Amino acid sequence: MTAHQPDLKAEKISGGVATDQRHDSAHKHVNGSAIYIDDMPEPAGTLHGCLGLSTVAHGTIRSIDLSAVRAAPGVVHVLTARDVPGENDISPTGRHDEPVLADGKVEFFGQPIFAVIAETREEARRACRLAKIEYDELPAIVDVADVDPKGAKLVTPPLTLSRGDAAGVIAKAPRRLTGRMRVGGQDHFYLEGHIAMAVPGEDDDVTVYSSTQHPSEVQHMVSHALGVPSHAVTVEIRRMGGGFGGKETQSNQFAAIAAIAAKRLGRAVKIRPDRDDDMTATGKRHDFLIDYEVGFDDDGKIHGVDFSYAARCGFSSDLSGPVTDRALFHCDNAYFYPAVKAVSVPLYTNTVSNTAFRGFGGPQGMVGAERVIDEVAFATGKDPLEIRKINFYGTSDRNVTPYHQTVEDNIIQRIVAELEESSDYARRRRTNDAFNANSRVIKRGLALTPVKFGISFTATHFNQAGALVHVYTDGSVHLNHGGTEMGQGLYVKVAQVVAEEFQIDIDQVKITATTTGKVPNTSATAASSGSDLNGMAAKNAARTIRDRLADFAADKYAVPLDQIEFLPNRVRIGNQQVAFADLVKQAYMARIQLSAAGFYKTPKIHWNRDKGQGHPFYYFAYGAAVSEVSIDTLTGEYMVERTDILHETGRSLNRAIDLGQIEGGFIQGMGWLTTEELVWDEKGRLRTHAPSTYKIPLASDRPKIFNVTLADWPENNEPTIHRSKAVGEPPFMLAISVLHALSDAVASVADHKICPRLDAPATPERVLMAVERLRAEAARK
Ligand code: MTE
Ligand code: MOS
Repeated sequence: MTAHQPDLKAEKISGGVATDQRHDSAHKHVNGSAIYIDDMPEPAGTLHGCLGLSTVAHGTIRSIDLSAVRAAPGVVHVLTARDVPGENDISPTGRHDEPVLADGKVEFFGQPIFAVIAETREEARRACRLAKIEYDELPAIVDVADVDPKGAKLVTPPLTLSRGDAAGVIAKAPRRLTGRMRVGGQDHFYLEGHIAMAVPGEDDDVTVYSSTQHPSEVQHMVSHALGVPSHAVTVEIRRMGGGFGGKETQSNQFAAIAAIAAKRLGRAVKIRPDRDDDMTATGKRHDFLIDYEVGFDDDGKIHGVDFSYAARCGFSSDLSGPVTDRALFHCDNAYFYPAVKAVSVPLYTNTVSNTAFRGFGGPQGMVGAERVIDEVAFATGKDPLEIRKINFYGTSDRNVTPYHQTVEDNIIQRIVAELEESSDYARRRRTNDAFNANSRVIKRGLALTPVKFGISFTATHFNQAGALVHVYTDGSVHLNHGGTEMGQGLYVKVAQVVAEEFQIDIDQVKITATTTGKVPNTSATAASSGSDLNGMAAKNAARTIRDRLADFAADKYAVPLDQIEFLPNRVRIGNQQVAFADLVKQAYMARIQLSAAGFYKTPKIHWNRDKGQGHPFYYFAYGAAVSEVSIDTLTGEYMVERTDILHETGRSLNRAIDLGQIEGGFIQGMGWLTTEELVWDEKGRLRTHAPSTYKIPLASDRPKIFNVTLADWPENNEPTIHRSKAVGEPPFMLAISVLHALSDAVASVADHKICPRLDAPATPERVLMAVERLRAEAARK
């Protein structure tokens, strides 16, 4: 007898789609029984690695003396670039600009140069510090503001989007203005840092447990670095303690070094950098310098815009091409520009190579759009919300994006109207004005900002996924797919889809670790597309088996196929009902294959980067937020008093998970735009490499009142998996409402006559400086 006794009379399975199924590991996360890589039992003789990092931002290596490192207690081996048996490169885009270990030159402070492998982690760390490396230093480019974009070195070809004659339209517009905005980067601050454990096998084989969003890429990178075929390398990951984009490519280095050492030494090797090394040596969200020119009229209607998005990409291309592309794809946010030109400037800098981070450049793009709205609002003396509304995408002649995709699913008006009403926006704006008129020190601010986020990888070929489903003879199911679990609830959502397909309770579906050995050639779990892609692939695999079971039943019981119905935990075959497990057993005895692979590729999408035209997104996800803040004009300190969110999920697969994604995404976005500030000094050293100096939001920073509502409207959707919409990244950008509420509060000190031009992150210092600047300017007028 199995522990599971399905209720055969139940009208519904437990844990199907569109139920509030808890995260499969929620209880294990809190009681400590969820196994992360560092919790896995270590094979006997496991060694530990530590990376030796560059101490200059740019230079050639004159000499390396590692003799003291080698002689240190516990040290078994020291690796340098020369020890890489295959290709010394882990560039994810094939540009060959990112070595596993620096060879001859270093291009940022913190670049890994060597790796110490020792009996214990502590011994490896201590030995690392004994290296004597001499450099011939070269001039270093640290800050994007120091670079003249003309003639600057780029890490990847820039993109231009254009529709209409932006320059001509702006020149002819009744009013125009120009400005510049600075938007900071962000450290991922996953709770579980990077880690890889490599276990050598026979011949060329190696198994790597890697905290990665992209097992297939880790597999390929390890195979290149070892110089062995991909078939020799297996990469497995059950879960990450957060990825947020930081484990899309950045895991490659740790995995490659662990694998090289493991094969060389014939022992398992684990590398887990400490937090400071992790923050210093791995890429982050790109910070941007956004230059804009906008032509508009007295109503505040935008006629044309011209944007330049310059990004600090770091020393190598990594994902900077697609990230800066996605910034341009979101320079419109939810607004129609009759004429537009936008260019990206992916700058080479002597800093860590920046990478994916929730929203993938989209948030930076949108922040630029919202700054332009703010500028127009102040110039015309209107409420920014009014400017937003008159510039929203509309129907027919106002629905084409800067990349020439027609917006067919626009619901921003409905979202904003409902939210404006439910959050009582108009009344609160009046109350705030009255409050500010009477309050000398504390000022309040309010803002409503929209989100329209494009769903799909812009590299079309990534929009594919595979799954593998086995049904065992007791009717229990083993589920595997190419998506990875980083806390976002992908595994439980896909399990719900499979339970639904077979009509069995979800505890009959075993969620298993992602591994390159079961589903090959997968894409990163990224671009919020995890459940769209893997949910469809798993559904497809389950459907294949279900169809075989149905055919078998029709045949065996001699009833027509349309008389077979999958009811909760049982199957109706004509007049009889058979438990699912019993039918499975019978099918096995009749030699029916009970295992299937599934596949899915997103329809409709295409993109021509050279032309800057196409249909890169399958659909858009919409949302909006209203935030209210209060600032202390003597100190710049602030508080988020209240946030109301209405965010679209389609027909949510799991409202509980989606709610968590919306709340978490918003808070993470708020951290990016408020307190999380990365500081590099003039030598290119990251000074904010620990929680002591890098401030992520605390529980106490969350809005005091926090109302989140799901717009689970199925009618607005393409035939996605059960008509749900992607939810992983879009809510991050709802936090732009906090930046604009802060801007609104600051503006009140000058009677809303001057645009505060608040840069991000709007730290208390920056808020205070903006208050002082506005007061001074107002006094001068
Ligand atoms: N949620 C949690 N808890 N942890 C994470 O690391 N990553 C985000 C988002 N939500 C993340 C998260 C990012 S960057 C992406 S792209 C999506 O989850 C990826 O998962 P999905 O495609 O299944 O939504
Ligand atoms: Mo998310 S930045 O696409 O991993």
